[in-house]
Amino acid sequence: MTRLVHLTDLHFGAERAELVAPLRAAVLRCDPDFVIVSGDLSQRARIGQFRRAMQFIDSLQRPYMVVPGNHDIPLYNLPLRWISPFFSWKMSIPQGRGCFARVGPIRLFGVNSADPGQWRGGVLRDSDVARVEAALRGTEQGGGAEAEALNLLVCHHPLEEPPGFERGETRGAESGIARLAAAGLHGVVSGHLHHWQLGLGIAAGSPRPLLQIQTGTALCGRKGEKDHGFTLLDQQPGGLIATPFVINEATLRFEPGPQRQFRREGGLWHLL
Ligand SMILES: [Fe+2]
Ligand SMILES: [Fe+2]
Repeated sequence: MTRLVHLTDLHFGAERAELVAPLRAAVLRCDPDFVIVSGDLSQRARIGQFRRAMQFIDSLQRPYMVVPGNHDIPLYNLPLRWISPFFSWKMSIPQGRGCFARVGPIRLFGVNSADPGQWRGGVLRDSDVARVEAALRGTEQGGGAEAEALNLLVCHHPLEEPPGFERGETRGAESGIARLAAAGLHGVVSGHLHHWQLGLGIAAGSPRPLLQIQTGTALCGRKGEKDHGFTLLDQQPGGLIATPFVINEATLRFEPGPQRQFRREGGLWHLL
């Protein structure tokens, strides 16, 4: 079994400080092989905020992948936003942590979906689709059409939006996701919405080709935020179990919620 933890939307700079230590303790108790952090590490893309986010991620003492979110490019510093939107990110985040990782039979393809041309929205760039497509077809980094591999895309913005969130704010998602699925992608791990959706559209009797894991915010302390947590992903031969860990506000402990168990058969994900 290979075990991943999916964290997203840390928002250091606007984080709930009282949840940082319990979050670390809960992740360490899960003892994952690898940690995915799918963007919005910071609230305002400031180097000090990134530094605190990286201190937290390093304290988990696991290999990790991080990709940027819309909050990880400057909002108010317009010259920097236009000239070098990822300057602070590049100064703060170890290079090579966002593109590709292999964890046992899982291949993770990281994509930067942050778009300096939009306030909140994102983009699935053609160049990223082409890179991941090539890797899935076996001609680039991480390449090889391996029958046993579980191929997951990691990006901040959701490539398909759950009911109630139909904003259409990830440009290029619809065509990109079709190309990636055709090339052998099995799933997408994303955040941004601060909303949980583990296995979008997959229900008993309604299988789908792509498993989309949408995790709520881990730490964001803005008004109205709730259900802070992370997702534990246990890969097993032929399937995956997703367990949400959500804060209990009375005890300030992250506690496991109902598991969703998915099995891949005939090119489709089924909910068991
Ligand atoms: Fe966020
Ligand atoms: Fe976001």
